[in-house]
Amino acid sequence: MDNTKFMLSEKEIPQQWYNVAADLPFKLSPPIHPGTKKPLNPKDLAAIFPMSLIKQEMSQERWIDIPDEIRDIYRIWRPTPLKRAVRLEKALKTTCRIYYKDESVSPAGSHKLNTAVPQAYYNKKEGIKRLTTETGAGQWGAALSFACNAFGLKCRVYMVKVSYHQKPFRKSLMHIWGSEVIPSPSEMTESGKMVLKHDPHCQGSLGIAISEAVEDAVKSKDTRYALGSVLNHVLLHQTVIGLETQKQLKLAGEKPDFLIACVGGGSNFGGFTFPFIKDKVKGANFKIIAVEPSACPSLTKGLYAYDFGDMACLTPLLKMCTLGYKFIPPGIHAGGLRYHGCSPLVSALHANKVIDAVSCNQLDIFKAAVLFTKTEGTLPAPETAHAIKAVIDIARTQKNKCVVFNFSGHGFLDMASYDKYLAGELRNYAYPSHEIKKALKDLPKV
Ligand SMILES: Cc1ncc(COP(=O)(O)O)c(C=O)c1O
Repeated sequence: MDNTKFMLSEKEIPQQWYNVAADLPFKLSPPIHPGTKKPLNPKDLAAIFPMSLIKQEMSQERWIDIPDEIRDIYRIWRPTPLKRAVRLEKALKTTCRIYYKDESVSPAGSHKLNTAVPQAYYNKKEGIKRLTTETGAGQWGAALSFACNAFGLKCRVYMVKVSYHQKPFRKSLMHIWGSEVIPSPSEMTESGKMVLKHDPHCQGSLGIAISEAVEDAVKSKDTRYALGSVLNHVLLHQTVIGLETQKQLKLAGEKPDFLIACVGGGSNFGGFTFPFIKDKVKGANFKIIAVEPSACPSLTKGLYAYDFGDMACLTPLLKMCTLGYKFIPPGIHAGGLRYHGCSPLVSALHANKVIDAVSCNQLDIFKAAVLFTKTEGTLPAPETAHAIKAVIDIARTQKNKCVVFNFSGHGFLDMASYDKYLAGELRNYAYPSHEIKKALKDLPKV
């Protein structure tokens, strides 16, 4: 029997993160100060992030050492397995070989811990006592709660209201790790109050929750803010995924024809694919595909322009594929993909045609998730199911290709969403073109 699991030893946990900024074939547009409209100075970020992370954010170094304290915590679940989905292949009657990198084995259930641990570590090292953050489906909030607990930091999580009610058990996990969890928009911040004044029943969005968490951090001296995606340093930390995958594909004797991951802010996509970008820009013949929800299609339908990262305009302006900072996506069950923008690195790679993007609707991704669970056994998070839907489409239409995707998280705490799907209570959302058009009108002028 051929191997279907490709494992590495703990010694092979990467010793450095890979910084794709060193190998881009184009110049990246800098983040802009919203007041001066000039490129951001590292000091401008000091009220929200510790200096070590700001340096990583702006670094052009190709490799950045991973401190031993972080690798020691990574050892709890890393290296993660690369698995071949032979039973899914059989069910699809495909001649393609499907592999998945299984990030769901982390204690919090997703890839998000890869950056939560370093973010908590660097904050602790610089004397910070408390972190604030946003979370959509709760995967990031749970990951940061684990990391803050590991380093003895307090943590407050602003959780998007629709997910707070749809996913009550991720909230319980955050409580177990000692975090405070606030449904957003809330009355705790001026940003939250402003939203509630206009719309008392607002379901929230990642953009609003970010505003609340940033405002909270800026107002407290011993507190900083931690972001679960989008920024360069977050994607940098996630590159442990792709670096391990490269070694494991060698063990399997494979070269990828397709690399696929879902995209919210872009961190699991970036972490999984960036180590392969160097070869891709040199002309290697494989495709890299980002998969997003058709209800929140920033790459496939957004504008590549400067925009705010949050609803209350507290963040720097980032050049990214965006649907407009005022866009509140429909309440799809993949809460982690309900973000109006996308990482500047991922957006620039898309704008420069290095990577491709596709979108999927809610019912199709749940159907794909059920087929995956029936064949391979593990229940994917609804976010991850976007990647699975795209993989299935490729496996059904291509021959003899090697298709590799990132299984970014499990869905064991998304059972209420699956119950609704099985009961026929979920629906697709029409592409919200009117709302997006309205939101794009208000993009900041740079
Ligand atoms: C399981 C899972 N996959 C993917 C994502 C998307 O986020 P990102 O694009 O930052 O990887 C999330 C976000 O919460 C998630 O929970």
